Amino acid sequence: MSIEPPGAVQIIADMFASDGAADYLGEAVSQATHMLQAAALAERAGAARPLIAAALLHDVGHFTSTVSGRDLMRGTDNRHSEHGANWLTQWFGPEVTEPVRLHVDAKRYLCAVEPGYLQRLSAASVYTLSVQGGPMGGQESAEFAAKPFAADACQLRRWDDEAKVPDAPTPEFEHFAPLLAGLVQSRRGRLENSGHDH
Ligand SMILES: [Fe+2]
Repeated sequence: MSIEPPGAVQIIADMFASDGAADYLGEAVSQATHMLQAAALAERAGAARPLIAAALLHDVGHFTSTVSGRDLMRGTDNRHSEHGANWLTQWFGPEVTEPVRLHVDAKRYLCAVEPGYLQRLSAASVYTLSVQGGPMGGQESAEFAAKPFAADACQLRRWDDEAKVPDAPTPEFEHFAPLLAGLVQSRRGRLENSGHDH
């Protein structure tokens, strides 16, 4: 009798329950609470399901990378957006993975183009901005804005910035599990269908 390996949703649920996700990384809330609040904001804003998932999963790279969120707070860029996005490609399509990949660049972009944006960031976010390359220059901003998921990444970024409220009512991970399961399943279905076509 073979034992089924744990599915995507179980692996992600375990990650939310892990010691790493209980870490605060310089913010007023734990990383798990932070990501759940970001997803709740996306849901309340009426975002499409993949973008709600992206908000929920945007910081998983702090736990999937060998260079951790703690290293980032000590001044080493852990490139968590890249690591997280790459890790998520095993289950999710670009509507989920690319806003995650671009959410750090979205901060660097918004700092460059939106007066007052930088002042609204948390102290930890301003600190990591310097580690992550600082505000974008003109050329880099133009290139960023032309990317297909740039607008989604900027929306995600604003929920990310707001999702740091201690004691705010925050849904449990289980609230979002069916949404994740649905996305994983429909992607698998799409991949299987395209496999039959070719
Ligand atoms: Fe975040």
